Amino acid sequence: MKVFNTQKELEAALDTARAEGKKIGLVPTMGALHAGHASLVKRAVAENDITVVSVFVNPTQFNDKNDLKNYPRTLDADCKLLESLGATYVFAPTVEEVYPEPDTRTFSYPPIDTVMEGPRRPGHFNGVCQIVSKLFYMVRPDHAYFGEKDFQQIAVIRAMVKDLKIPVEIRPCPIVREESGLALSSRNALLSESEKRIAVCISQALKTSVEFAKSHSVKETHDLVCGALNATNGLEVEYFEIVNGITLQPVTSWDEAEYIVGCITVYCGARPVRLIDNIKYKGGE
Ligand code: PAJ
Repeated sequence: MKVFNTQKELEAALDTARAEGKKIGLVPTMGALHAGHASLVKRAVAENDITVVSVFVNPTQFNDKNDLKNYPRTLDADCKLLESLGATYVFAPTVEEVYPEPDTRTFSYPPIDTVMEGPRRPGHFNGVCQIVSKLFYMVRPDHAYFGEKDFQQIAVIRAMVKDLKIPVEIRPCPIVREESGLALSSRNALLSESEKRIAVCISQALKTSVEFAKSHSVKETHDLVCGALNATNGLEVEYFEIVNGITLQPVTSWDEAEYIVGCITVYCGARPVRLIDNIKYKGGE
């Protein structure tokens, strides 16, 4: 495995691979890797000749500058893990390398980016599109891997790929959870042991609601999840939306779409830590 810090070195290595007809897979990350990231890398390694993992804490997608400052940076440990997983190249550029000039491009994909995370994290998806488009131009991957934990992020990236006609296939990967059901996230490290036990209620409520949904309306299912979580000490639901899995617009009946997903954001604990999760109610296979 080789670690590159510059676009020039990365492109030289990839040009050679491409000339040999090799398939290239890209896994974009911000580092502080855990088993969720590892699942994407394993799949990329299995499905491509060359796997590039980018490790870059992208400043333009943080709407909270403190969050950016405190974001965990663990490149040495990340590289050890990536090597053991069989990654070919790690791309770990500096901010100056990626953004020699401020990126003034704006990306807007309504109504996909105007719901849920969009209005609550202004500028976030714009920053995600800035970095992911640059990575796509630099790496020119055949396949790019993203986790369904960030369900809306995948929909926004798909819209961007279609808009800019970027020749890459997006491959979504299922959410990796702890045995308790808690979705893995770098943010879980910010939870105390007791907060973690409380956070488990999020995935439990979602799971219970799938069974409940079989004999209840969308609204009843929505209220069941919000009611259970808001009644739990230490949890506060920011939003829970049951949406069409393609358009991300809220549905009011289970017949309204072929693919239906419930997306939730919950504040947990004293700090508090903002946790996201989602569950499929229908379709999406
Ligand atoms: P990051 O939060 O590091 O996540 C990198 C990838 O890992 C994303 O596609 C994310 O959905 C996936 N991932 C995280 N936790 C997961 C879990 N528990 N199960 C499955 N996949 C999981 O998302 C970003 O970085 C950035 O926005 C990025 C796309 C790299 C652009 O900067």
